[in-house]
Amino acid sequence: MNNTRVQRDTQRLAGDDEGVTTAAAILRAGGLVAFPTETVYGLGADATDFRAVAAIYAAKGRPRFNPLIAHCAGIDAARREGMFDAPALALARAFWPGPLTLVVPASPGCGVCDLARAGLDSVALRVPDHPLARDLITRVGRPVAAPSANRSGHVSPTTPEHVLSDLDGRIDAVIAAGPTRVGVESTIVACLGGAPRLLRAGGAPRALIEAAIGRNLVDETSTSEAAPLAPGRLAAHYAPNARVRLDAQVIRPGEAALLFGPSPPAGIEDAAAVLNLSVAGDVTEAAANLFAALRALDATGARVIATSPIPETGLGEAIRDRLRRAAADR
Ligand code: TXA
Ligand code: MG
Repeated sequence: MNNTRVQRDTQRLAGDDEGVTTAAAILRAGGLVAFPTETVYGLGADATDFRAVAAIYAAKGRPRFNPLIAHCAGIDAARREGMFDAPALALARAFWPGPLTLVVPASPGCGVCDLARAGLDSVALRVPDHPLARDLITRVGRPVAAPSANRSGHVSPTTPEHVLSDLDGRIDAVIAAGPTRVGVESTIVACLGGAPRLLRAGGAPRALIEAAIGRNLVDETSTSEAAPLAPGRLAAHYAPNARVRLDAQVIRPGEAALLFGPSPPAGIEDAAAVLNLSVAGDVTEAAANLFAALRALDATGARVIATSPIPETGLGEAIRDRLRRAAADR
């Protein structure tokens, strides 16, 4: 198939054996399939096929070639692609399958193509904790490159409907399997010799990672986006159309309100729209609801989304990071 074309008929596949079999065949032939992981929906392509990977960038409308995460079926498959030092191995054993991505030196036999690695000599690897994702990757028999399945600059999709609203007609298929469990992208840790470094906060909480390696992570989550290591961490990567106002104690008339916790803030009665990420004040529940809520409030046409303060604990760090990026000037 001609993988650089953008217009395609997008098949809706069921999240069953037949759907996964069809999806695997499309991926093996160089096509693009969006599939659920436990974090967000990914836009998959055969990571060993540079034409298929190029088609990911075309479908997303990515302005430049950022390195992608190669998804593997298990730890053994991942260790064929990258070289794991002691902390990397400890983290893989503690968190995989799960919402942690490890950036490690590419192995001499690494099959993940140069384009998926953006020419770097490292590779980002992850074993997702979702039965359909692992089944799919196993059947493809190769690592599957997958960024989040959204148009460049939009928030990540946590439902098949989000995927289709961004990419219908631009990808070959989507496996429709309901909302994702975690709701924010994986945590990214670089293990490239020396102290492991936190590149992106995400679905695996920092405290658990630090406990698994017995030391603190070097925090590189706010390093300038000009840093070549993780160009995907653009400041305004998670941007809705509305302006996002952080840590709002008071809602101003006409603002859309994104709340957290049981007590409504002052001014709520004059809000244009109101959603609560977690009435119980649970950051894990809030993470699962975050991107759908941002999309829904954005769709109201409100010019400003005012967000309640969210604690920094557990998945709160990832939520705060995404909201900060959504609030960054474009
Ligand atoms: O949860 C997730 O991680 C989702 C699901 C689909 O697995 N995927 C995802 O991919 O969020 P994406 O492409 O949106 O983010 C990948 C991040 C980017 O910030 C990129 O810069 C970084 O991983 N990355 C990839 N390879 C890297 C490398 N060799 N060195 C440093 N950063 C890398
Ligand atoms: Mg993304």
